[in-house]
Amino acid sequence: GWNPGSRIPAMVEYVSREIGPEGRALCAVSGGVDSMTAAVIAHRAIGDRLHVVFVDHGLLREGEVEGVLRALDGVGIRNVHFVDASDRFLSALSGVADPEEKRLIIGRLFAEVFEDVASGISGIGYLVQGTIYPDRIESGASGRGSDRIKSHHNVAGLPEKFGLRVVEPLRDLYKDEVRAVARELGLPESVVGRHPFPGPGLAVRIEGDVTREKLAIARRANAIVEEEFVRAGLYGAVWQAFAAVMDSTWVGVKGDRRELGRVVIVRAVTSEDGMTADWFRIPHDLLATISKRISEEVPGVVMVAYAATSKPPSTIEPC
Ligand code: XMP
Repeated sequence: GWNPGSRIPAMVEYVSREIGPEGRALCAVSGGVDSMTAAVIAHRAIGDRLHVVFVDHGLLREGEVEGVLRALDGVGIRNVHFVDASDRFLSALSGVADPEEKRLIIGRLFAEVFEDVASGISGIGYLVQGTIYPDRIESGASGRGSDRIKSHHNVAGLPEKFGLRVVEPLRDLYKDEVRAVARELGLPESVVGRHPFPGPGLAVRIEGDVTREKLAIARRANAIVEEEFVRAGLYGAVWQAFAAVMDSTWVGVKGDRRELGRVVIVRAVTSEDGMTADWFRIPHDLLATISKRISEEVPGVVMVAYAATSKPPSTIEPC
């Protein structure tokens, strides 16, 4: 078959032509392979006329902020605008239990923070986005309302408000093609092989309101799941593997005391593009290790369950 890497010059050329010799562009990265690849292509095309924005909404995974900043540095992108907006997001989310409302709040705040950064940089005329082919398809066909689709990354409404022209170098690629391109561009394996992670972050893996207590559980439990999939050599065999924190409780025993604790659900799926997915037949030994570690290492958790339902009927993420 053809090598998607051979399309790199054409994509770089496309961005150069769109933005021209003087234009400046913004690109929001999440650390995911799509936005990082788009940023590197744009950087090759326009160099330091590219400004990369990275917002920490407080819902990122363990070590993610450092990892993304290191990867940007590693590919030589210099104009990086990093904003730690965790407190702002977490207070806005306080007491909000409805999944769609959580997504809307996160999307809206993200746009606000992004606007603040954008208005501080002069002469920006373009917005580079890592939209890929399935994103364009799924935008019309979501079971969760069209406003949910990647609204976080696509900073809905922003291009119009600032009169920015959108440039999408990956718009015709599938995920596996993006990965091939990313590898060719020299992005580290931690970015290239990374599982998709939703824009609203751990908020979609927490049932009900996002509290610091549930967030701490989600962060630690997700890290354990990823670590153990990597250790078992199965990280690359699945589309996603993660942990979700439920509001429901289970009675635990500690010595001679009985106390209520939380339920964490581990989910791993295989998929081509996220539109449909099969639950992963996880080896029992791996599940045993994950379950033991989560219940022993994560305070407040007394039950670990495994999600054995495909998409459809279930979505991949719980919320
Ligand atoms: P679902 O849960 O709808 O997810 O089966 C399909 C794929 O999309 C990801 N996902 C999201 N990505 N913003 C995103 O950027 C979102 O709000 C969102 N919700 C789900 C999910 O991780 C899976 O890969």
